Amino acid sequence: MEAAKIPASFEGAELDNFGVDHFSCSESQKAAHFMAKKFAEKSIAETASKGMMFTGQCGTGKTHLAIGILKKLIRTQRRRGLFYSSYHLLELIKSSFDREDLSEWEIMRPVLDRDILLLDDLGAGKITEFVQEKLAYILMERYNRKLTTLITTNYPVAPPRDASADNRVGGKTLGDCIGERSYSRLLEMCVVIPVNGPDFRDTVKRARSEML
Ligand SMILES: Nc1ncnc2c1ncn2[C@@H]1O[C@H](COP(=O)(O)OP(=O)(O)OP(=O)(O)O)[C@@H](O)[C@H]1O
Ligand SMILES: [Mg+2]
Repeated sequence: MEAAKIPASFEGAELDNFGVDHFSCSESQKAAHFMAKKFAEKSIAETASKGMMFTGQCGTGKTHLAIGILKKLIRTQRRRGLFYSSYHLLELIKSSFDREDLSEWEIMRPVLDRDILLLDDLGAGKITEFVQEKLAYILMERYNRKLTTLITTNYPVAPPRDASADNRVGGKTLGDCIGERSYSRLLEMCVVIPVNGPDFRDTVKRARSEML
């Protein structure tokens, strides 16, 4: 579990403590929780080259659910997992070019060969051609090696828009951020799970202030 590098702030996040009975929990959040539990019960063969992609607004519980799956699969199937914020991963790869103590290969090896990779907040940060190439490589390798990949993103899961489209209309899509190749690969690999509803951080804050 330690090798999975799950952030300390999610130490307590489990599928079992994702509250669905709370009055403000939406049908979408309940359904996402149900799907996450189902996925975490699948066998290694059933999750080969497969994964889940949670998409929705901030604070709806996407990372909590993905970490819940990761932890459960590590515990019950003894699979080797790894958490990475996708922004942090890509910055780390970039920084390795100027470092003598850390090579790109050292960073990439676990990303390419751990049984389960959770890439959190896909599309966050400045997306360059370099970033798109790295992502495409990671996803293709993991697919070919029959590994499991979990994704969370705030971006709407839609293809890249026509280059001539007006970028002010509708905002960016996931396809715009990660490029056509990765987008198409992800759709093949991952079941897309929308997680829409109230921001849990906001709900908790309001409940706390009501208690004071
Ligand atoms: N249904 C829930 N039950 C218990 N805790 C929850 C629930 N939903 C969210 N949380 C908690 O609320 C906080 C925010 O959730 P989380 O980080 O998973 O949201 P997110 O959808 O990933 O947000 P962002 O898009 O900003 O990354 C976390 O501490 C998480 O553990
Ligand atoms: Mg998150």
